[in-house]
Amino acid sequence: MILCSPARTAIMQSDLDLFGRQPQRLATHTVLLPGFVLPRLEALLDALRPVLRAAPFRHMETPGGQAIAVALSNCGDLGWVSDRQGYRYTTHDPLSGAPWPALPALLAQLAHEAAAAAGFDGFHADTCLINHYLPGTRLSLHQDRNERDFSHPIVSISLGLPAVFLLGGQQRGDATQKVPLGHGDVLVWGGDDRLRFHGVQPIKPGEHPRMGSRRINLTLRRAT
Ligand code: SIN
Ligand code: FE2
Repeated sequence: MILCSPARTAIMQSDLDLFGRQPQRLATHTVLLPGFVLPRLEALLDALRPVLRAAPFRHMETPGGQAIAVALSNCGDLGWVSDRQGYRYTTHDPLSGAPWPALPALLAQLAHEAAAAAGFDGFHADTCLINHYLPGTRLSLHQDRNERDFSHPIVSISLGLPAVFLLGGQQRGDATQKVPLGHGDVLVWGGDDRLRFHGVQPIKPGEHPRMGSRRINLTLRRAT
């Protein structure tokens, strides 16, 4: 279990983003890093392009047979999938039959750096779930628990249209904190917060100057 005491993870004034926004601790082991990926945004988009060509966004089904409103893809050694058999990780893309595209080095590096900035040293992601939200799309409250070892944090990168992230507690019925997430922001949660329920409110209609009428979320995890 990674124990990152708040003392060890003091947030530095020098961590201000391009617009002077400071990192924010939202809970003991949950940190928002505003604009963290903006300095490397174009390289990040360049890295995503071939991934999404090889493994395009698609809608998966819940185990109960409902279409998931968020379209998704993956890269890395493993990819998260959902179908009638349940939620799980696979080595291959069920759509193409090919292995999921490799995790771009830049994504692994950004995840490593963001985790460290939030107090989780030595994080090595092996999977990235890529979520695509159109206006109106929401993600209901859930826990991320298909990974083998919950001692690894989750690094979540937001791009495009803004969202309101709901940060809940350990129980589904716990109160939620509304966290505005904008283009380039990174949210990191782990340690005692690793199994918090979370979700995303419906995306408001809009047009993002770089990303168009969509929100993209990259969720980097260690699944194995
Ligand atoms: C997720 O929990 O899978 C995605 C969260 C987000 O889109 O911000
Ligand atoms: Fe999640």
